[in-house]
Amino acid sequence: MAAAAGRLLPLMLLLLPLLVVGAAASSVTYDHRSLIIDGRRRLLISTSIHYPRSVPAMWPKLVAEAKDGGADCIETYVFWNGHETAPGQYYFEDRFDLVQFARVVKDAGLYLMLRIGPFVAAEWNFGGLPVWLHYIPGTVFRTNNEPFMSHMKSFTTKIVDMMKNEQFFASQGGHIILAQIENEYGGDEQAYGPGGKAYAMWAASMALAQNTGVPWTMCQQPDAPDPVVNTCNSFYCDQFEPNSPTKPKIWTENWPGWFQNFGESNPHRPPEDVAFSVARFFGKGGSLQNYYVYHGGTNFGRTTGGPFITTSYDYDAPIDEYGLRRLPKWAHLTELHKSIKLCEHTLLYGNSTLLSLGPQQEADIYTDHSGGCAAFLSNIDSEKDTVVTFRNKQYDLPAWSVSILPDCKNVVFNSAKVRSQTLMMDMVPETLQASKPDQWSIFTETVGIWDKKDFVRNRFVDHINTTKDSTDYLWYTTSFDVDISYLASGNQPVLNIDSEGHAVHAFLNNMLIGSAYGNGSISSFNVHMPINLKAGKNNIALLSMTVGLHNAGIHYEWVGAGLTSVKISGTKNGTIDLSSNNWAYKIGMEGEHYSLFKPDQGNNQRWRPQSDPPKHQPLTWYKVNVDVPQGDDPVGLDMMSMGKGLAWLNGNAIGRYWTRTSSTDDRCNSTCNYRGTFSPDKCRTGCGKPTQRWYHVPRSWFHPSGNTLVVFEEQGGDPTKITFSRRVATSVCAFVSENYPSVDLKSWGKSISDDGRVGAKVQLSCPKGKIISTIKFASFGDPSGTCRSYQQGSCHHPNSLSVLEKACLNRNSCTVSLSEEGFGEDMCPGVTKTLAVEADCA
Ligand SMILES: *[C@@H]1O[C@H](CO)[C@@H](O)[C@H](O)[C@H]1NC(C)=O
Ligand SMILES: *[C@@H]1O[C@H](CO)[C@@H](O)[C@H](O)[C@H]1NC(C)=O
Ligand SMILES: *[C@@H]1O[C@H](CO)[C@@H](O)[C@H](O)[C@H]1NC(C)=O
Ligand SMILES: *[C@@H]1O[C@H](CO)[C@@H](O)[C@H](O)[C@H]1NC(C)=O
Ligand SMILES: *[C@@H]1O[C@H](CO)[C@@H](O)[C@H](O)[C@H]1NC(C)=O
Repeated sequence: MAAAAGRLLPLMLLLLPLLVVGAAASSVTYDHRSLIIDGRRRLLISTSIHYPRSVPAMWPKLVAEAKDGGADCIETYVFWNGHETAPGQYYFEDRFDLVQFARVVKDAGLYLMLRIGPFVAAEWNFGGLPVWLHYIPGTVFRTNNEPFMSHMKSFTTKIVDMMKNEQFFASQGGHIILAQIENEYGGDEQAYGPGGKAYAMWAASMALAQNTGVPWTMCQQPDAPDPVVNTCNSFYCDQFEPNSPTKPKIWTENWPGWFQNFGESNPHRPPEDVAFSVARFFGKGGSLQNYYVYHGGTNFGRTTGGPFITTSYDYDAPIDEYGLRRLPKWAHLTELHKSIKLCEHTLLYGNSTLLSLGPQQEADIYTDHSGGCAAFLSNIDSEKDTVVTFRNKQYDLPAWSVSILPDCKNVVFNSAKVRSQTLMMDMVPETLQASKPDQWSIFTETVGIWDKKDFVRNRFVDHINTTKDSTDYLWYTTSFDVDISYLASGNQPVLNIDSEGHAVHAFLNNMLIGSAYGNGSISSFNVHMPINLKAGKNNIALLSMTVGLHNAGIHYEWVGAGLTSVKISGTKNGTIDLSSNNWAYKIGMEGEHYSLFKPDQGNNQRWRPQSDPPKHQPLTWYKVNVDVPQGDDPVGLDMMSMGKGLAWLNGNAIGRYWTRTSSTDDRCNSTCNYRGTFSPDKCRTGCGKPTQRWYHVPRSWFHPSGNTLVVFEEQGGDPTKITFSRRVATSVCAFVSENYPSVDLKSWGKSISDDGRVGAKVQLSCPKGKIISTIKFASFGDPSGTCRSYQQGSCHHPNSLSVLEKACLNRNSCTVSLSEEGFGEDMCPGVTKTLAVEADCA
């Protein structure tokens, strides 16, 4: 024993420092200026990472990337419907292992902000509330009624108690510094009548009674009662003021991008504008800002909200869906955070003065007793760049930008001057899969009722009330007789379907004749399909689908789905209304019933081996053995050749796929002007293309060998063209001007006389293990354009390419100063020079 202990000792000594790492606090309070942690005011950068939108194997790296990006705190919602799967039945495993996620954050030395909700919206199915709760008699969500409130209280208490058991609250020496109750209720409160206010006040007091010892917030809740802090969610929160002079100014959701709907183009928020909003917030007295979301991740399985929200929840966030840094956004914000932190003490303990520097230019100046001075110079003109004079020095201020001066003299950061490189990511296909052709198996669904019908009605039932969201699918089937004379009329009959949503595939006599779905966030639709009837009995089978349940809005839980009217027009007899026919119903797909997606569940006899799987066949399940994509790059499943359906790897639900394209005129613009107030319609790409082509498959879902991909295709596609793609950086770009000086933030402040400034420079860096293989474009002069479409201007230094090649070729990374000797000769005096570079990584 002694010998063993002796051997263990050095190991324990090594581990000991690791064990004591981790965020810890003992008290969190607040005053009008900020949170006060262990007696000290704090200026905090927080980043949202939602644990079920990635997998546990990704958590440590995601949290580390947030920390490297300057985060002090991780924020997450708590997803009730993922945790309480039936009343009193809890699930905290795998992606829903909240305690483990909280521990990862603690071990990284970061604080945690827990937004319990339990209503969260969050583009998450049903806003995070359990579907079963809606069916408990007498329940109305988010207002003053007993069943809702008692379940909400039980769940909130459950979560708080779990965190207390782990000693996670700061009051217990842990890292949770804030908790949130409810979510964006203020705007809806009136609509709920007198019960609204009563409910909001009850929620606040229920939360306070949990005795967590840390402050509670309510976001977008102007009447949040003391001591609950009301906070701001928006693209900009510099003008926000809390409802009491005793509360600090907190921004719980800064949206650095936006979510996507199937069938729409892809929104982007420029990094210059995100940085502008953050700098304005801190310049105007803000003390805690959270990015919603910093990593968006993936709505795996059927967790996405709706209708129509994509499986990807990339959000154009600083860390992309696949867990990789999005550059320049990640790096630009990282520089911003460091720059703001240089001002922390002066901002929090100094007095502020507002000084006008021009019609739309101003300085927010902070001075403290120890002689500290920090200034935020803003140009909120959305068109004109300008030069301002501040304390006898001139500063150029691009339109819609903020410069940060931690000593009131030297600019360390300007929100519009992006110094970071751009990393261009591509999805590089692997040749999939079935190494041997006989590895395909298929299962074909029956059109309409399989096995036995569930029930018959001579009317339409509500889709969601019937499935209770146990599946996306509900069959509505009927038949009717047509006589010969009717067919002879020569008219083209038309099938007219009205639906409250969300989508339908229409089958006539076992043939798919068309599909229809709602648009944008409008789930309802109507559709007219020309049809060919036959003499005698005709069968209509309509497969109604939900595509994510509504996640927000007043009384959103009562929004219905499914068919409301089915008629055949254009017949000799006029219009035949089939709505009150006998309709036979079947809930779900047969393949779901037999869990065909689960590996090794004794389903093998249902699967039919096929050397050549059928193509363009609706309602087909495909199973194939696949190889692990090489390397360790993140993996996406390329579903371009498919229609709509669900996919699984080794039984793990990848999610809904749908290659629905956006229209060519869906708000896209080849130029994105970061200047001026952002809205999600402003900078969109991907018009005329599928909203989502690739579906993230976490690496940890693969086995070393023997991997099974299962796909259920509703409409028809070519499964042999499905491939895995690896997400890799294939090129890097940079666009840096002489007046974008780099600042060595590490040495800043060590000697105040030396501001750490070095000349402007371009820094290129390929991912680990890759080198810069080609310089595709280089121009020192006045080039223009964006990455992959840079163009030379009228001023171009002839050495541009050779200087870059000499410094960068065959290296993993390189730095080129704009004052480089090679650029010595001034080709165009008086022109502010820019160096633009595009290079390939291989
Ligand atoms: C800030 O202003 C208050 C009230 O004018 C004054 O008492 C305090 O000393 C000032 N603090 C600093 C750091 O200038
Ligand atoms: C059309 O009307 C005729 C006469 O009323 C009836 O016999 C026939 O069944 C009708 N056809 C259909 C398709 O309803
Ligand atoms: C959806 O929008 C497209 C393009 O604007 C339009 O053609 C189509 O009719 C719309 N569908 C519905 C159901 O409104
Ligand atoms: C769903 O069922 C509830 C009763 O549980 C009913 O009040 C509601 O109207 C139904 N919804 C629809 C859209 O039919
Ligand atoms: C596209 O950008 C240009 C230039 O910024 C602008 O004038 C135009 O309105 C934009 N178009 C759309 C559809 O946003």
